[in-house]
Amino acid sequence: MDKIEIIGGKQLNGKIQISGAKNAALPLMITSLLTPDTLTLKNVPSLRDVNQLKRILGNHGTDLTVEGKRANGSQYAGETYHLTARDIVDTTAPYEMVSTMRASFWVLGPILARCHEAKVSLPGGCAIGTRPVDLHLAGLEALGAKIELEDGYVLATANGGLKGGRVTFPKVSVGATINVLMAATLAKGETIIENAAIEPEIGDVANCLVKMGAKIEGIGTKTLHIQGVTNLEGTVHSVLPDRIETGTFLMAVAATGGEVELLGAAPETLTASIDALRSAGVSIEETADGLLVKRQNGQLKPVHIETQPHPGFPTDLQAQLMALMTMADGRSVIRETIFENRFMHVQELARLGANISLNGDTAIIEGVKELHGAPVMATDLRASVSLVIAGLVAKGTTTINRVYHLDRGFEKIEEKLGNCGAEINRISE
Ligand code: UD1
Repeated sequence: MDKIEIIGGKQLNGKIQISGAKNAALPLMITSLLTPDTLTLKNVPSLRDVNQLKRILGNHGTDLTVEGKRANGSQYAGETYHLTARDIVDTTAPYEMVSTMRASFWVLGPILARCHEAKVSLPGGCAIGTRPVDLHLAGLEALGAKIELEDGYVLATANGGLKGGRVTFPKVSVGATINVLMAATLAKGETIIENAAIEPEIGDVANCLVKMGAKIEGIGTKTLHIQGVTNLEGTVHSVLPDRIETGTFLMAVAATGGEVELLGAAPETLTASIDALRSAGVSIEETADGLLVKRQNGQLKPVHIETQPHPGFPTDLQAQLMALMTMADGRSVIRETIFENRFMHVQELARLGANISLNGDTAIIEGVKELHGAPVMATDLRASVSLVIAGLVAKGTTTINRVYHLDRGFEKIEEKLGNCGAEINRISE
């Protein structure tokens, strides 16, 4: 199993290309199940989760071709995928495929909408809390689906097809919004989704669906109106830049000091994170090509933050912010309101010398003068990258084990950081 070794203490300076967003690429790939035509996706990041989804879609009958290298193409430009689900040959998503990645559960809505039946294993993914799927199922039931649970599988049927309905989510869910949105595009009549999540990745998916012929109003707002159509067509769509990768690099530079331009970053997708970092004393400016982040001198100021659905501070940057605040001048308070049990990085950061105490959903971080390297364990996707940030500043060597978590969501991270002066290496075993 690969490890990452970091010798801390180097500033970061240079430019980093931001990849396409994992959390948009995954549902965009899944929308290919809604049409027999070819969906072309550009700027797809090269990640373990994307590879896993390729296998899942292939099992349902999706043909995939990936464009080869192009002259003058940048190695960080993202890949171009052509996905064609001419026929759905298998409406079952088996446990072996679905268990490692929660987003694979999102095939349920599209397969049900197109084939009027689907059988999908209950999902796995990062071990951050219980992460139920009740909202997905209630949403599909509101569109006329009959849902049964059997041996760890969801069996959904819609004799005669799905029908438009009103879905009012009692809690904001990214996945449930996407699942129901995709299903509603092919349902008969109008669907209204209230209290929809408004994460930028949902807007990206909705815009792609519109290009495929879907009728959706209210994109970017908490109420979506979808008029069902009988069929969708292929289109060409480019995956939006990854705001979580962007925020992670902002925090890495804030931690080490230095000056880095994040090329292709979309600042409007992470205003709460930029505001939080500015209030900590980090300089962040928009440039023609993205964002320029600098921290030349002075200690970081502590922050008080709670995670919230978009446009609030994202839970997917909570661990990284905590790593950064271990070095602030004073006490920071970070409250996690989205997921229970998303503090597994705390004990690993403590191994590097961080001073963090937990009280329910709240972490209290007392800034320390320095961190020191140690062997640590990556426990989930975002937690693992918080250890990278801490390792970049810790004195001595930090070895991160179980980096497959990191590979699920961060493309070529050691290369990107290494090109900016970090001493970071992958050790394959
Ligand atoms: C997505 C993101 C993940 C991010 C999360 C919150 C992808 C692939 N994953 O995950 O990176 O951390 O949004 O921004 O885009 N919930 C229920 N019932 C449900 C569904 C969710 O109670 O049926 C709860 C969850 O347990 C959690 C909250 O709702 O407490 C938000 O979860 P949700 O937005 O659904 O997260 P995901 O879509 O799984």
